[in-house]
Parts: sequence; C-alpha cells; structure tokens
Amino acid sequence: MVSRVIPVEPFDIVIFGVTGDLARRKILPGLFHRFLVGQIPGTAQVIGSSRTEMDEGAFQELVRACLLEFSPQASKDAEALTSFLAKLSYVCVDATGENGWLDLAEKLRPDVVRAFYLSVSPSLFGPIAANLSKYGVSTPEARIVVEKPFGHDLNTAKALNADLRKGFEEKQIYRIDHYLGKETVQNLMALRFANSLWEPLWNSTHIDHVQITVAESLGVEGRGEYYDRSGAMRDMVQNHLVQLLCLTAMEPPSRFTPGAVRDEKVKVIEALDPVSQADTVRGQYRAKTGEDSYRDHAGDPDSLTESFVAMKVNIGNWRWAGTPFYLRTGKKLRARASEIAVVFRDPPHMIFPKMEGRRGNALIIRLQPDEGITLRTTIKDPGPGGMRLAEVSLDMTFSEALGPHAEPQDAYERLIMDVIRGDQTLFMRGDEVEAAWRWADPIIAGWAENGLVPQPYDQASSGPEDALMLLHRDGRRWRELG
Ligand code: BG6
Repeated sequence: MVSRVIPVEPFDIVIFGVTGDLARRKILPGLFHRFLVGQIPGTAQVIGSSRTEMDEGAFQELVRACLLEFSPQASKDAEALTSFLAKLSYVCVDATGENGWLDLAEKLRPDVVRAFYLSVSPSLFGPIAANLSKYGVSTPEARIVVEKPFGHDLNTAKALNADLRKGFEEKQIYRIDHYLGKETVQNLMALRFANSLWEPLWNSTHIDHVQITVAESLGVEGRGEYYDRSGAMRDMVQNHLVQLLCLTAMEPPSRFTPGAVRDEKVKVIEALDPVSQADTVRGQYRAKTGEDSYRDHAGDPDSLTESFVAMKVNIGNWRWAGTPFYLRTGKKLRARASEIAVVFRDPPHMIFPKMEGRRGNALIIRLQPDEGITLRTTIKDPGPGGMRLAEVSLDMTFSEALGPHAEPQDAYERLIMDVIRGDQTLFMRGDEVEAAWRWADPIIAGWAENGLVPQPYDQASSGPEDALMLLHRDGRRWRELG
C-alpha cells in the first residue's frame, strides 16, 4: 500500500521563537520531512523570527545544525537539505516592542496562506497577536498557532483566549495538543466511526471500565523548573489524557468536520462528574542508586508537585453512567507505554467451569510504542481434559498490517500541514480548553486544601501503591505496564 501525499497550497509560515527548543526539535524537522515527501510546494517560505539579531546566512546555518541533530534524513540527503534551507529567511522582531514588524510585513506575500506559529512563552501570545494586527502583518485569513501550556488554570486560559481574540477570530486560532496529531489517536476515531462492529457495544451495558494510561520512562531532568510549576495533572491530564478520554467516550459526530467533532468532545468534558479526592492518587518518584529523585530534578528539596497521577473519572451521561474511566500518567515508570484499554463485562451467564485469573474481553488500542490493536478473547484450551478455557490475543500492529508507510509520522508534521490546509479538527477550540480547566481546577484546588502530598514511588515501577488500590478496591486491576 502506498501512502498518498497531497501537496498543500503555497504558504508563508512565520515561526516566532525559532531558536527555542520546540522549533529546533519538532517544528523545523517537521517542515523538512514534509518537504522531503513533496508536500510543501516549491514557492513556500519559512520565516524564522526571534529577538536575536542574525543575518539570513547565520540563520540557515543554525537550521542546518538543528536538522542534522534532530532529523535522521538530513545527513542522508545533502541536496534536499540545501534546497530546504533556501526556503528559509529570518527577521529579528521584538515581540513586545516596535522593531521588526514592518520588515516582517514586507516579506509576506499577499496572495498565499499565512501562518504564524507562536513557539514562545504564553505571556507573549497577547503582545504578538496585537502587533500582528497593529502592523498589518496579519490578514483576515491568516492563521495563528499556539502551544501548550494553554493556561495554568481556568482564569489564565480565559485571559489567553481573550488576548488571542484581540487580533484573531476563533476560526483562525489553532491550539495544539500534539496528542491529537498522533496517528493512532486519529485511528481511534476511524476504529469507532468507520466500523459497525464496536458501536453497539460501546456503552455501559457492555463495557465494564476503560483504562487510559500514558506512562513515560523518562523523568523531568532538564525541564524540572517548568514542570515543577505544573505537575502531571496540568502537564498531561488536563490536556492529553482528557483528549484521549473524549475521543473514546464521545458520541459519533454527524460529520467529520471541525465543528461537529469538537462539539461532541466539549459535551464529554461538560459531562464529567466532579472527581472525589478519594478517587485520586498523586505520586512523586524517589531517588534510586545512581539516579536522582524528582525533587533533585525539580531543584526543590521540598517540592510537593506530582510526577504521577491516577484517578477514577465518571461521565455523567446515558452512555457511560456506571462505567468508570481510570486515568494514569507518570514519569520514570517501568516502561514508555500509552494505551487505551476498553474492558468488557463478563457474559451474563457462564456455562463453563470457572477459569482462574480470567480477565475477560478487552480491546486495547496501543498508542505508542508498537502502535496497534489487540483484542483479548477467550477460547478453548486445546487438547483433551474437558472444556478448559484460555485467553488469547488477536494482535495487530499497524506497521505489520500496512507496511512501512504506516511508520507514524511525527504529530507536528501532520498538525502543521493541517494549519496550512485550514483544518481545525485536530486542534482544541477555546471553549474546549476552558471546559477542561473548569473540570481540572477543583481537583488541583482540593489537593492543596486537603494538604494531600504525593506518595513516593520507586523509579521503574508502575507508580505508587495507592494507584493499585484505586482499582483493587473496585475489584479491578490495571494492565501491566510494558
Ligand atoms: C508534553 C509534556 O506535552 O508531552 C511532557 O509536556 C511529556 O511532559 C510529553 O513528556 C509526552 O509526549 P509524547 O509524545 O512523548 O508522548
């Protein structure tokens, strides 16, 4: 099977904060890869911008170095690298002042798509959006792209939305949650809405519970200062895990359009019941021989920020009442493993002898690594000796089933191309982000009010003991990590 690459329209993209980590690791390599597969038209312009004075030659050298570091293809195709660098130009712009804006306006062409990627601190979203309008750099069709963290709580998210809306309408604003750009996350929608098999079972009558896990093996070394102000709840749950929950739980949208898909996601977030403190667990990884603790990485020996969260979430609507969703995410866990496990109820009447350790049917959607789907089923254990049962997996990995082109592209590549195409389906709408904060804020406030401190857990484990208990007390078990 050959994947089709449809070139996008000619465009000018301006990357603010182009010398920063995200631009170097993700945005520039992402654009380069799309260029290599022929998706970027010959006339496209990539304009880097930051506070640093630099001429175009120096900028191109900087990008060459970053691509050689972060894109394995760059060193293999010197000619393509040189052609890509030829598309790059640079303008030094003072985000909060007057310098550089008119130079930038001059570089942009009137008749092509314009996109402004704000790879900068959220405190600069407002000033940049205002200056883009003030200096006539923006047009009514231009697009503005912003990254997480989108707010620290509901109030700050509202303020950021208000800042962006000073210069842009909602239809021009692209809020990135890179989980939505992951191939397997979109596959979740295909699995649910392009098959008739699952939908009749996709409710609390047939589904016992859902487990959503995003486990990481790395810690917060190198970004402890940022992370310590957020913690796992703000860094992962409020955005990535809530998005996974929405895609699993949402009603089928009437069309695959940005409006219809996002309306259904917002309805799920608004239906989330308040989470009781007793249904949450916070953890923090401790030191082990030769490895620093979370507190060492965060640079604060007294830090009470969580590097692990687990919780039980109930969705108060007809489809899901009575089927809990258990979420967990953490750093320095046993394995890097992200998955959604949909665990079905047992048959209403079992005619076979009881099977020790039976776990029942489950559909597991593996998001990363080893992207694929597993369906756990019960069959007869072969051989004589009566009707003994065994559990086996129907296993599918996307790369085996679909061939090499199924190797997932980086989420940023897809998302940047969607910006150019003007497709907001995989981006968060303003009301959606606010709804997620409205749900998350009381949980975080509750921890502070009750003085709930994170429970230490061992590195390379599956998290704190209490996280296991969260399911045990409901007669359930987490799936093994990795
Ligand atoms: C980011 C978080 O949004 O997602 C990080 O800020 C986290 O803390 C990362 O490590 C995980 O993304 P991925 O794509 O590696 O699963």
